[in-house]
Amino acid sequence: MTSHAAIIDRDHLAALTDRERSAYRANFPGSREAFSADGTHLLGGVPMTWMRMWPGGFPVYHATASGARLTDIDGHDFIDFCLGDTGAMAGHSPAAVQAAVARRYGELGGATTMLPTPDAAWVAAELARRFGVARWSFTLTATDANRWAIRLARQVTRRPKIAVFSYCYHGSVDESFIVATPDGPRPRAGNVGAPVDPRETTRVVEFNDLAALERELAHDDVAAVLMEPALTNIGIVLPEPGYLDAVRELTRQAGALLINDETHTFSAGPGGCTAAWGLEPDLVTIGKAIGGGIPAGAYGLSAELAERILGDPSADIEDTGGVGGTLAGNALSVAAMRATLGEVLTDQAFDGMITVATRFAAGVQDVLDTRRLPWNIVQLGARAEYRFCPEPPRSGGESQAAADAELDEYLHLYMINRGVLMTPFHNMALMCPATTEADADAHTAVFAAAADDLLG
Ligand SMILES: Cc1ncc(COP(=O)(O)O)c(C=O)c1O
Repeated sequence: MTSHAAIIDRDHLAALTDRERSAYRANFPGSREAFSADGTHLLGGVPMTWMRMWPGGFPVYHATASGARLTDIDGHDFIDFCLGDTGAMAGHSPAAVQAAVARRYGELGGATTMLPTPDAAWVAAELARRFGVARWSFTLTATDANRWAIRLARQVTRRPKIAVFSYCYHGSVDESFIVATPDGPRPRAGNVGAPVDPRETTRVVEFNDLAALERELAHDDVAAVLMEPALTNIGIVLPEPGYLDAVRELTRQAGALLINDETHTFSAGPGGCTAAWGLEPDLVTIGKAIGGGIPAGAYGLSAELAERILGDPSADIEDTGGVGGTLAGNALSVAAMRATLGEVLTDQAFDGMITVATRFAAGVQDVLDTRRLPWNIVQLGARAEYRFCPEPPRSGGESQAAADAELDEYLHLYMINRGVLMTPFHNMALMCPATTEADADAHTAVFAAAADDLLG
């Protein structure tokens, strides 16, 4: 922290958070009531347990959504920068996806039949154009895309382990719940019912630490490095210049495959970081945004890797070999993906989204500068995130050290109470094609007010 940096008075912060909690309870009586009335038979009172992460003791209940806007059952209007934690990066219910879904499900009929539809080949070709790997297959989630990618990598390399980065998140992938500590790797805190200790399956290093990666790959037992080209689930941690090229070089030397998980880093452009930064992974995984909100995921392999897996007589990739999903590649999902990629998250759309995100980040930076707040904001294309440390963190471990649950709660409540929705964990904001510069400015104004209140 610089000597001129503003200091946060923790008692004042606690008092402000109390004020915002009370305002939240008063502002959202319908949601409060729905939570206490509906919750009895829901595990944890919510449809999915992570919905408990919203601040204020109960979540806001969603009523309608369109583009970058969302309304709740109490009639509030929100600018939505959460966008379903990227699942709605195309905006809520974009017209093209609505039409494709209505046509497939209503007019033509049949969401899931075990038979292909022509849309799948179109989507695969488009993903190949964008991400550079040639052969694609589908899942319903990004988690499954990662799971199957890992299995394929193990199969072709005949190696048992994967390597990940400390504080990464790739969905509920057993191998990935591991962190690096000064005393060596350990399972990530709270890992639920782990099938095996992840130290048996996984090597873990800090992002941007090439020496550590080289050391771990030297064991010659790593099938694949699974990475986001920039970490996005512990704030945003960008790669240092040359780092990703060196990772590619090291993996090639060590005979390990490289999997780019572009589920969130898709925000960097139409072909994610892979295209934006000229990367050459062996596999790419993606989910969430590509279906315009309809469940869909995909994994792509280089042509060479696809040949190896298809030609391997000991790999049952068709029946019960462990790579599957009855509804994967279903007609409804691929119709939604075709509309999303073909008509909504187009190359041109990204230009607009990135312009708005740049304005969002500049607005936040101006507030930080003028208030001398020792925080930083990092932008990755259409996504931006602020973190409570003066310089952008270089690794997951560094970023974790800057986490501040009290500040998060205060800011999240402050925003929701004033019609701005951010992700319920850390401080991520995402722009969709419908997000406007005025929306970005509205966030800046609320953020500035929150900062001013905080600084008294
Ligand atoms: C980078 C990344 N990969 C994979 C996933 C898993 O996505 P899903 O929960 O939709 O399977 C996430 C979820 O946040 C993610 O951030």
